Amino acid sequence: MLSKIKKIINDFNNELSSISNNSSLENLRLKYFSKKGVFTNLFEEFKNLPSDQKPAVGKELNIAKNKCLQLFNELKEKVSNGKNETTNYVDLSLPGRLQEQGSKHILTQTLDEMKAIFKGLGFSIHEGPELESDFNNFEALNFPADHPARDMQDTFFINSDFLLRTHTSPVQIRLMGKQKPPIRAIMPGKVFRNEAVSYKSFCLFHQLEGLYVDTDVTFAELKGTIVAFLRQFYGEDIKFRFRPSFFPFTEPSAEVDIWYVPQGAENGRWMEVLGCGMVDPNVLKNVGVDPEKFTGYAFGMGIERTAMAKYGINDIRTFFDNDKRFLKQF
Ligand code: PHE
Repeated sequence: MLSKIKKIINDFNNELSSISNNSSLENLRLKYFSKKGVFTNLFEEFKNLPSDQKPAVGKELNIAKNKCLQLFNELKEKVSNGKNETTNYVDLSLPGRLQEQGSKHILTQTLDEMKAIFKGLGFSIHEGPELESDFNNFEALNFPADHPARDMQDTFFINSDFLLRTHTSPVQIRLMGKQKPPIRAIMPGKVFRNEAVSYKSFCLFHQLEGLYVDTDVTFAELKGTIVAFLRQFYGEDIKFRFRPSFFPFTEPSAEVDIWYVPQGAENGRWMEVLGCGMVDPNVLKNVGVDPEKFTGYAFGMGIERTAMAKYGINDIRTFFDNDKRFLKQF
C-alpha cells in the first residue's frame, strides 16, 4: 500500500501542474478529496490492513493527504487571484492601450512665440509676483488713491495694501527700482480682474508687458517695435491701426487694434490687442529715474486676445476649460 500512496502523490502532482482554471481545479478536488474520492478510498482500504502495518501506513497516508491538500489550497488561492502563470496569458485579441501624446497649451505656444520675437528685437525677460502691493500696482504707476482711473481695472483686493495684480505693469516698477537704464525687457505673467465672465473677459488672463528706457527714446521707436512685432506674429499683411488712448502711467498713450475675422464669420471687425505709450515722467520719478535725462516707452498686451485674433478663437473661456477637443486643435 505504501507504493500505491507514492503513485497517487505522483499522479496528483502531475494533474496539479496542468490546472489552469477554476473548473479543472474543482474536478481535481472531486477526484481526490470528495466523499468518493481517491483519499477516502485509501482510508477505506487502510481499515482492512493487518494491524501491524497500520501505524506505518497510517502515518504516510496522513502525510500524503495533508501535503496534497496543502498544494491544492495554494493553487486554489493563486487561481482565484489570477496569479497562476498558466491563467495569466496574453490575450492577443484585446485592443491596445492608446498612448496619448501631450502638447503645449495654446497659450504657452503663443507666449513662446511672442518671447522669441521680442528676444530677436533685443528684449530680455523678467517676471514678478502675482500678489502685489497697491503701491506697485497703482500708486507708483501714477494712479493716485481715489483716482477714478483705478476703476478701469476691477481689482481683487487681499486687504487695503495688497491685491492680485491687475496688470503686469508693476513689474516695470520693480525692474526700474533695481536696474538703472538702459532697460529693454518684456514681462509676461498672469493677471486678475474682478470682471463679469463672458466670451470676451475672464477673471484671470495673461499679459505681456514691454519696457524700454534709455536716453532719447521716442514714440517713433515704440511704433517701429510694435509694427515689427505685429508683422512677425500675424504675418506681413496684417491690418492694424493706432488709436489715441489714455493710461495713467503713459503720456501720450495709444491703443492698437488689428483687423480680425472670427471663425466662421463673414465679416471682420477691429479688435483691440495692445496698449502702449511713452512712460509718464511721474512714473520715472517714482522709481528714482531722472525724467530730464531718460525717456521710455511701454506697451502691454493680453496673450489670450492675441491668440484669439491669430487662431480665430471666439470665446476666451475655452482657454481655461481644459477641454481636450479644443486643446487638440493646436
Ligand atoms: N497695463 C495696461 C493694461 O493692463 C496696458 C499697458 C501697458 C498700457 C503698458 C500702456 C503701457 O491695460
